Amino acid sequence: MAWKTIDRIQSTVDPDAPLALSEAVRDKIRSFFPRYETKRAALLPALWIVQNTNGHVSHKAMIEVAELLEIHPSDVLDTLSFYTHFWTHPKGKKVITVCRSLSCELLGGAEVLAELKKQLGIDEHGTSEDGTYSLVTEECLAACDHAPCLIVNEKTHKCVRAEDVARILADDKNDCVEMERSDLFDPPANGKGGDETAVDDLIETTSDVQEMREAD
Ligand code: FES
Repeated sequence: MAWKTIDRIQSTVDPDAPLALSEAVRDKIRSFFPRYETKRAALLPALWIVQNTNGHVSHKAMIEVAELLEIHPSDVLDTLSFYTHFWTHPKGKKVITVCRSLSCELLGGAEVLAELKKQLGIDEHGTSEDGTYSLVTEECLAACDHAPCLIVNEKTHKCVRAEDVARILADDKNDCVEMERSDLFDPPANGKGGDETAVDDLIETTSDVQEMREAD
């Protein structure tokens, strides 16, 4: 099984194009600065904020993030290109990620992928014409016991067969995850480096940390 690299579309940056980051996005990024010793350390949250707002992180946005964090644009690209979940070009409203690792492959993952490509009329890293779906593959999605599986945005679909594809695509709620989201990501309302009590409460909900504390 070979590793596959993301086919990133290179673009040129038009210096006269409108700013990629709104003032609200800049403020949200700045609100993370007090959490770290350096502005550079806020790079990952900054990239997530940009992607969540703009749908992807364009080259122009990378340059503006670099200015905001007082680092070189190549440092932004270095970090961004390391992670497969960042997009440098527009993606569909929903991203379908199909597992391409062993368990899924053995149990029919390739057929599921082929059916998705056929029904969406796209190849890997492509986006359907109506802008609804983008399609990618990744190594193990950590649901091997329910192979073959795929994820639509954040929702995992287990034991998927090629004949399930049409039903999954037709379901408006195929990406809905019914669980409360952590508030760790959201910047503090006071902009002063985080609500330590809330973070502490959340940490205490993990049994590993609790056990470590009790062992001390
Ligand atoms: S091999 Fe597909 S989820 Fe692990």
